[in-house]
This record gives sequence, C-alpha cells and structure tokens, in this order.
Amino acid sequence: MKRFLFGSLTVLAMAALLAACGKKDSTKYLVMGTNAEFPPFETLGGANSSEVVGFDVEVARAIAAKVGLPLKIEDMKFDSLLPALSAGKVDMVLAGMTITPERAQNVDFSAPYYKATQVVLLLAGGFIPESKDDLKGKTIAVQLGTTGDGVAAEITGQENVRPFTSAMDAVVELMNSKVDCVVIDEQPAIQFAKKNPELMLVRLAFDDEFYGVAVKKGNAELLAQINAALAEIAADGRNDQFVDQWMVQAPAAAAAEAAE
Ligand code: ARG
Repeated sequence: MKRFLFGSLTVLAMAALLAACGKKDSTKYLVMGTNAEFPPFETLGGANSSEVVGFDVEVARAIAAKVGLPLKIEDMKFDSLLPALSAGKVDMVLAGMTITPERAQNVDFSAPYYKATQVVLLLAGGFIPESKDDLKGKTIAVQLGTTGDGVAAEITGQENVRPFTSAMDAVVELMNSKVDCVVIDEQPAIQFAKKNPELMLVRLAFDDEFYGVAVKKGNAELLAQINAALAEIAADGRNDQFVDQWMVQAPAAAAAEAAE
C-alpha cells in the first residue's frame, strides 16, 4: 500500500511537472534573430552588458507589440541568421541586414526600414584611398557573409579579403596593422571610430543599401504585420525618435567627440 501510495505520488508529481513544462512551452514569443555586435543596430548593453539593445531592437519591439506577443531575442553569428530563419528557429531577422536579390531567393524581406552604405575604415595617419580603385590589391578585413564581404571581394579580389565571424575582430585586425582597411556599413564604422580614435573613416562611391526585416519564405501573415508596424512607426514619429536616439549623424561629429 505504502509503495502504491508512493508510486502514485510520484506519478502525480511527474504529471504536475509535465503540466508546468507544457505551460512554459505554450508561452508564445515573437523570436528575433540577430548578431549583436553591430552598433547602433544591435549591441550588448544594459545591466552587465548582457542585454541586446539598439535601433533594430526598438523596431522589433514595435513589431512585437503589433503582433501581440512578447519579444525574445536570439543572438547568433551573422551567417547563421538566414539558415536559422529557414529552419524555423527564429521568426524574423533584424540585423542591419541589407536586402539583396540573392538573399531574397531564400527568405522574404519587408519594405526597407533604413538606408545605408559601405565605408572604409583605416588607421589614421596611413594611406587614404580616393576611389575604390585605390583599394585594388589592398588587404581588406570584413565581417563574413556581409555585403561588405562581397563588395571587398569585387574590388580587391577574394584572395585579398580577410573574413571574420565578428565585425569587431575585423576592426581589431586593422588596429593591429594586419590589414590595410575594413569595409563595413557606415553607422557601425562611425561607432567603432568613435571608440577608437586611431581609426578614420573614408566614404567612396559605394551603392546605397537598404535594410529589411527578413521572414521565412512564404510567411505572408507575419510579413504583413511587420510592414504595417514599419509604416506605423514611420508615420507616428517613433522611427525618427529611434534614429535620434541611436544614430550618430556625421562622422565629423564622431571624430570631434572622440578627440574630447
Ligand atoms: N548590412 C550588411 C549586410 O547585410 C551587414 C550587416 C551586419 N549585421 C550584423 N548584425 N552583424 O550584409
């Protein structure tokens, strides 16, 4: 009898545990995939620098509010983001990700939400390119799988490109004088230059790029909600507010601030 009672209690306890787990699992989130080392779009901040913060996080919160689910953020390598999206591990990707025809073959993009371009980061006091041609044959560090990676390969040849999983590692390589320059998106470049006064930024004739939110191919329902949220934050001034809060407007200002 005792054993029977004990057995029943165990079963009951297990059932309760399972129910609790089940409850946890059924809590739905809107899961954003990102690569949180791309300030000011996504970077680690907050208490203990353990929280993902940035422009993209503000936009994602507005989207989550529209969808009516709490936002959950999964931080991963940049080149893992689109595979994670296709595998259903995340619902959407916001990662300062440029809309490109190649990517659009595998995922669907929202309307553009930010206009960007590539720039060149160099060591101050060193060579200054005046055109993209001046970068031919130079060693260029990039973040693996980014548009900067592709642009650099076009200019200097794949053999002269040094890809790094982390954008910061590409910048460190430059600061250690192991490469001639870094090709990276403008806003992160400004932020890196602001933190490291030995860096300087040069603008060349790079194309405009447009960042979009990516969803799994065919997820039309979420895409429509994302586009509605983007239109709303553009119309009600929230987008401008996020820009004011996160973007550094001019590299000249960044250089002046860094010198202070
Ligand atoms: N805009 C570039 C691209 O789409 C770079 C994005 C890098 N983003 C990041 N979170 N590391 O390829």
